Parts: sequence; structure tokens; C-alpha cells
Amino acid sequence: MVGNRKKRILSGMRPTGRLHLGNFVGALENWVRLQGQYENFHLVADYHVLTTDAEHTGEIGQNSLEMVRDWLAAGIDPGQSPMFRQSQIKEHAELHLILSMLVTTARLQRNPTLKEQMREMSDRLHNRSLSDADDVDAGEGIELVSYGHLGYPVLQAADILLYRGEVVPVGEDQLPHIEITRELARRFNRLYSEVFPEPEGKLTQFARLPGLDGRRMSKSLGNTIYISDTEKDTLQKIMQAITDPQKVHKHDPGRPEVCNVFTYHKRFNVEAVETIESECRAGTRGCVDCKKECAAGLNKELAPLRERRAEYNGRDDLVLDILVDGEKRARKEAGITISAVREAMKLG
Ligand code: TRP
Repeated sequence: MVGNRKKRILSGMRPTGRLHLGNFVGALENWVRLQGQYENFHLVADYHVLTTDAEHTGEIGQNSLEMVRDWLAAGIDPGQSPMFRQSQIKEHAELHLILSMLVTTARLQRNPTLKEQMREMSDRLHNRSLSDADDVDAGEGIELVSYGHLGYPVLQAADILLYRGEVVPVGEDQLPHIEITRELARRFNRLYSEVFPEPEGKLTQFARLPGLDGRRMSKSLGNTIYISDTEKDTLQKIMQAITDPQKVHKHDPGRPEVCNVFTYHKRFNVEAVETIESECRAGTRGCVDCKKECAAGLNKELAPLRERRAEYNGRDDLVLDILVDGEKRARKEAGITISAVREAMKLG
């Protein structure tokens, strides 16, 4: 709180379609938890999708609706918290352009996210496997990066500053982008006048939820459970999850610290965690039963989300109404900021 006013949150996600439990635990449930305590603005970063793929734009619209269905399912309340598409508010483009003058290309090339993506692009070009990636120099990657891709964090800074966001709930991987946002806010304020608050990144509580195979949960790795999966799908997926590879027989003692299913228990079967851990270590708990219990915990927690989501399934019109309303509210805030920016810069 600042005086009587709630601090403002600006958070966003790139629309890649349905959200999985990694997105839920790593970000979305945090948004919901903070709703009420803060004034929340939630942005669909559809322009950001173009930074890494400007060719296949046909699915961005549907993917955005699909993602917003999951936001609604998780409990984002459209009455309280405007949800909006970046591409529908022209001020994003305007502020992005202005901010792009206030940062050097060298600074943007040092962004670790970009470096990693450049390495991946150069690997793909040379058909190198990702396991060789560590040995590859990212230097040549810059030849493959578009102007807009280099500016990814500048666009993100515009997203945040356009709403004078004060708190940005993010995963650790996004902290470098928040840092660039802070630098831009400071530079603008110093050069012209104090228009922007310096936003703070707020890390999510629960560490990353791994995929069913223990790698990062990701659509492209095929190791996901979706918020919108049915109970049956969820059970089936959990039954295939990789546990402690050394625990082969039901009565072998297990090592919860290397077991993915145990990580899920820690989040979705909180009360039973101690029992589960000691039974697993003692070899009195088989993985099959353990997985069934895990799926039951998950399904119990996801049931209300699925119920809420069902109201919006097949109803693009309802989701669009919510977005259009959020966009009206967002546009108003964006307009106020841009006027202040123009005035500060004496742009007339
Ligand atoms: N870069 C963020 C991600 O990949 C998405 C994003 C775009 C964002 N604009 C934002 C996040 C503004 C927070 C605030 O997750």
C-alpha cells in the first residue's frame, strides 16, 4: 500500500496456448493470490510472440483466448483485474519506440535470455545437438537476431512502465528484463522528469515444478499436465511420470529428493507430505499407489478450475468481451502515461 492506494501489479505472459501446471505454479497462482492486495493488470504479450517467430501469426489470436481461459479458470476476476492484449493498445508501440532510444544495443546484447536464444538459433542452423551447446560461441548468433528480438526487454519495459507498474511477479529467468526496465525508468526520469516508478520484481513462492520426466515442464518436451486436462488424462500422465530410477520394486526404499512425483506431492498433497516421505524412504510405499494419491490430490485442487473453465469453453465471445472490456480500462491508463511522457519530453 502507498498511503490509501494499493500498489499496482503489471504481469504478463506470452500466449502460446493452453497453460500447464508449470505456468500455474510458477506464475498464475501467484497472480491470483496477490489479487485484492494489489491492483492487478494482466497483459497478453502477443507482440512478444513475434520476436521469435514473425512467420506463423495465424494462431496467436486463438492462443491468446486459450490462455485467458486458463487465467479465468485459475481465478483471475475480470471485474477487479483488467486482462488485455498488448497488440490492441497502440501506446505500447509508442512507448517502445521512445524507450528504444534510451538503451544501447550493447546493453541489450548482454541480456542472458537473448544469449541463450542466440546459442539455440546457431545450433539449429548448424544442426548441432543441444548437448554441445555449452561449447558454442554465441557470437555468431547475433547475425540471426531481428531488431525486434534484440528489443524484447524494451518492449517488456514498455508493458510495465505504460501502466506505471510497481510490482512485477515473475520467475527468476525474467529478472534481467526487470533490471533493464528499472534502468530505463531511471534514465527517463533523470533526462526528462519523474514519470515512472521503478518497478520491483517479485519472485514466485514455489520453485519451478518439473515436467513428468524431471526436465523443465514445457510443451515442446511433451512432459506437461495442462490445467484443462481431464481427471482421467491427469491420472494417466502421472502414472507415466518418472520416479526414483533406483526404486524398481514396490518395497525398495526410495529417494523422494530425486522423485518428480514427490515434488508434485509437495505442492498438491501438502498435508500428507511427511507421511509420504517417510513411507517412501522406508520402502513401505509403492510408486503405483503413490502416483494414484498424487493424481487424486492434483485432481482435487484442479476441479474448481476445470469447472470455471468449462463456462468459457467454446465461448470465444465471452472471453473476447472480457478482453475488450479490459482493453478499454488499460487504454485509459496507457493514455494517461503517454500524455505524461510527451509532456515530460516536450513533444507537444
Ligand atoms: N517476458 C515474459 C515471459 O516470457 C512475458 C512478458 C511480456 C511480461 N511482457 C511482460 C512479463 C511484462 C511481465 C511483465 O514470461
